[in-house]
Amino acid sequence: MKILNFGSLNYDYTYSVDHIVAPGETQSTHEMNTYCGGKGLNQSIAIARAGAEVYHAGQVGEDGAELIKLMADSGVKTDYVKTIAGRSGHTIIQVDKNAENCILLFGGANMAQTREYVDEVLSHFEKGDIILLQNEINELDYIIDQAYAKGMKVVLNPSPFNERLDSCDMRKIAVFLMNEVEGWQLTGKKEPSEILEASREKFPDAEIVLTLGSQGSKYMVDGKVYDQCCYNDGKVDTTAAGDTFTGYFLAGMIEGLSVEERMKLAAKAASIACSRAGAAPSIPTRDEVLI
Ligand code: RIB
Repeated sequence: MKILNFGSLNYDYTYSVDHIVAPGETQSTHEMNTYCGGKGLNQSIAIARAGAEVYHAGQVGEDGAELIKLMADSGVKTDYVKTIAGRSGHTIIQVDKNAENCILLFGGANMAQTREYVDEVLSHFEKGDIILLQNEINELDYIIDQAYAKGMKVVLNPSPFNERLDSCDMRKIAVFLMNEVEGWQLTGKKEPSEILEASREKFPDAEIVLTLGSQGSKYMVDGKVYDQCCYNDGKVDTTAAGDTFTGYFLAGMIEGLSVEERMKLAAKAASIACSRAGAAPSIPTRDEVLI
């Protein structure tokens, strides 16, 4: 069984600010750093650093060599990553003094994928393999349909949640990993227990992982709900904490860890990611997470 993560690769231009800038306001920043990021790249790196094998597919522009190199250096299989003309995806991220962030996203090469490319990548995978997806690439609906038709297990982190998800057939998703805002956008419910209940009604066969920030996380599988507390290793920058949770959770699932073990592993890894600056650089290795 192989894991394919078909997802975005971005350069994150990250600015430390006092507070998130308001409309019409100009604010001086304390610090600026460039990190490798993108929900796809972060989640692949988290899976690899957790110790599992993962293939990444996605596109970068002519400036994307550093993104591919970091993934390869982290143990991700990058054979299917494609370089095209133009610019890679990038973001402008503000991180405030409470470690909260806001993100402006430019899709670049992530949004220029062709169906021919998707077909070529998927031709290397088969029934029973896992495909992990987020919502920062184009042709997401097509990828879900094709992967499902092949019998792959489709895992979706519906983030960022926007109108592009409307064209996706969510009945084909085997596992959703989302935060409470995405859970609200998916179900129309705000309370975690109501989100899970509404998800069960809409997608009776799907497993649901719901992350709740400082309130921990919940995992609904086979009609049972498991709770996990949030750890606190300090809060510097929450960017990629959710991606770290997703990658570690999936790696634990593949490894055959019990539900409780994989929730704990993912929560601990995400907490460490929060205690460090940046996206990909904040993702811990497995030996740092061992608890
Ligand atoms: O989830 C964090 C990521 O979202 C950042 O690395 C940024 O690139 C955006 O895609």
